[in-house]
Amino acid sequence: MKALVVGSGGREHTLAWKLAQSPKIEKIYCAPGNAGTASIAENISTGVDYIGSLLSFAIDNEIGLTVVGPEMALADGIADVFERQGLKIFGPRQQAAQLEASKTFAKQFMKKHAIPTAAYEVFSNAAQAKAYIESVEYDVVVKADGLAAGKGVLIPKNKEEACAAIDDILERRAFGPAGATCVIEQRLEGDEATLLCFCDGVTIKPMVSSQDHKRALDGDQGLNTGGMGVYAPTPLVTDVLMAKVKEQILDRIIAGMQAEEMDFRGVLYVGLMIVKGEPYVLEFNVRFGDPECQVVIPLLESDLVDVCLAVAERKLADVDLRWSTQHACHVTMASGGYPQKFERGFPISGLDKVENALVFHAGTALDNGQVVTSGGRVLGVTALGDTLPDAIATAYREIEKIDFKNKHYRTDIGAKASRYL
Ligand code: AMP
Ligand code: GLY
Repeated sequence: MKALVVGSGGREHTLAWKLAQSPKIEKIYCAPGNAGTASIAENISTGVDYIGSLLSFAIDNEIGLTVVGPEMALADGIADVFERQGLKIFGPRQQAAQLEASKTFAKQFMKKHAIPTAAYEVFSNAAQAKAYIESVEYDVVVKADGLAAGKGVLIPKNKEEACAAIDDILERRAFGPAGATCVIEQRLEGDEATLLCFCDGVTIKPMVSSQDHKRALDGDQGLNTGGMGVYAPTPLVTDVLMAKVKEQILDRIIAGMQAEEMDFRGVLYVGLMIVKGEPYVLEFNVRFGDPECQVVIPLLESDLVDVCLAVAERKLADVDLRWSTQHACHVTMASGGYPQKFERGFPISGLDKVENALVFHAGTALDNGQVVTSGGRVLGVTALGDTLPDAIATAYREIEKIDFKNKHYRTDIGAKASRYL
């Protein structure tokens, strides 16, 4: 079978790497991919927002399975378009993708189906939103409703900053049309974990838990990024907590999807905040997390092609998901300056010296055969180990072999896991 992976990040490199291990796969294409995917797949130049071109490519090349990385293509209805033409695709339909594309939609879904989440209100009028903030006792988080490339969540320090955040979103439209409405939520204090789940709308099966590190600098300082590193599983998600998550969150998600005839066949990313041992949902995403995918998928022992096809055919209940008992640590190497201004085009050396870890590319490109930097998050190293400290030590030993001008990575990925033991 031929497969198409849509996207160009570390997540997509990881997915292509795993799909390529299946005996069912004869060829993989990536649209548009990066220098890493070029070594295991054929990159095609079509960008993720050209759904019509992707469809023609899939038809012309008899693609048997399309796996979608980024949320935008799903929110734009790529799954609907492909399925209408009889193509198998791993990713939710447009209506279901609103669980990520509209925070209001997600919060309403959670409220209706009694899924624990922070208290909230929705506003499109700035004066009313500010009056609400004045009326509540608790600290708030202000979120643009729509997709804002991970930047639409503002965490004000006081009421004044909260009012400024409302003006930014609703009045100045800092996030464009994504900020036509905003969600104001109670701020929860706790520890975050990610639970990626395979879901076919009828059955939901969690993957191993993980914990992302979103801030740019050590000690969770600096600006928010797409993710600077991650480890899996996280001891924050104990068996006791997982039982609560299943009963109060996952089972209710499935009941809700069935009640609302939501066609969700893909990965549901459940962003959790654990407050005094109780799980709350901070957000849903409708795709693999990045970098979470880069530790979770290497721990999957089952054939990813089988899993994706079963999800697409609503047969997830029949799939036996097998997981390694090892631990994984992933450290992201970024361009200095990320998530703000940074330079591109620097040659990357030492990739061939990495022996005991996987290197997944994100913002890389080929320039006359030389791998060069081409994005904020450039690449990352995933190491496995029998213990988490082993995985962390290996990841850091291997990452030192890779070099490029202005490289930046955090030195404390996974360190906070020991707090949960
Ligand atoms: P979201 O995109 O909704 O997950 O928000 C991005 C980040 O903002 C989360 O990973 C949290 O760190 C933070 N956040 C979002 N909602 C809340 C909340 N209600 N309380 C505290 N932190 C939050
Ligand atoms: N790592 C966070 C995300 O993928 O949204």
